[in-house]
Amino acid sequence: MEIKSYNNLLVEIEDDIAIVSINRPKALNALNTETLNELDDLTSTIAASKDVKVVILTGAGQKSFVAGADIAEMVNATPAEGRAMSLLAAGVFSRLETMPQVTIAAVNGFALGGGCEISMACDIRVASENARFGQPEVGLGILPGFGGTQRLPRLIGKGRAKELIFTCDQIKADEAYRIGLVNKVVPQEELIDTCKAMAKKITSKGSYAVTLAKQAINIGMDTDLASGLKLEANIFALSYASHDKKEGMQAFLEKRKADLTDF
Ligand code: CAA
Repeated sequence: MEIKSYNNLLVEIEDDIAIVSINRPKALNALNTETLNELDDLTSTIAASKDVKVVILTGAGQKSFVAGADIAEMVNATPAEGRAMSLLAAGVFSRLETMPQVTIAAVNGFALGGGCEISMACDIRVASENARFGQPEVGLGILPGFGGTQRLPRLIGKGRAKELIFTCDQIKADEAYRIGLVNKVVPQEELIDTCKAMAKKITSKGSYAVTLAKQAINIGMDTDLASGLKLEANIFALSYASHDKKEGMQAFLEKRKADLTDF
């Protein structure tokens, strides 16, 4: 897989893990159109590749993950431009949510507005102790436009999501953990290593099976239980066609380590 060089993204590949840092320190890593286009390009490249199995998404520096969409760019934008930006982000964020790779947000500071929203499009969120989450949009005269009105209630429930969106309250990492917005909270100096350890644990399992499980969870969460269970049976059957299923079970019975290679 060939990774281009980007103006606003830093990309490191370590074995089959990609660490992507949004890098606009002067604007606390706010998402402007150029950054969203770069994320669009990068996530398309990674999604089509077999070389990367987990993506860790973080913000450059120690202060901010992503401080939202770029307010300086939005201030004079027309309704049509606002819609276009929202749809651009929707495409990128949906790719993060549905790509075959597992996506982990390493939230290392402010995750406000579009920052909270991009973290919610990732499969898993790990926060540093200094992380702050919030949806400040209604204080700017707009509403969350990068998926916040949809993903936040799905993650933490309608009542809590409404409170956060209507009040613009910022919550600390421990409160985000308490309400289920993040999976884990760790000291900042341990954040990336914690995410890498989690990524390595995931890549040590059957990667094709992980991808199928991600698909089943995602589609199932947007449908009723009976349809979800039927879908699960079909995706379960797909896993039976894999080399990994044969190898994983055989290895268990032979009391040896499985060599799982499908992706
Ligand atoms: N867009 C553009 N620039 C931003 C930004 C943003 N979202 N957030 C911070 N910056 C810029 C500041 O303008 C400032 O630039 P200058 O040095 O040129 O003045 C620089 O980053 C540093 O910011 P502060 O001086 O404000 O830093 P602070 O430590 O005092 O405060 C903060 C940090 C609380 C995160 C504060 O910067 C802030 O409130 N930022 C805006 C957060 C926000 O409202 N996000 C939502 C945006 S709207 C959105 O995301 C819509 C959507 O759903 C898609």
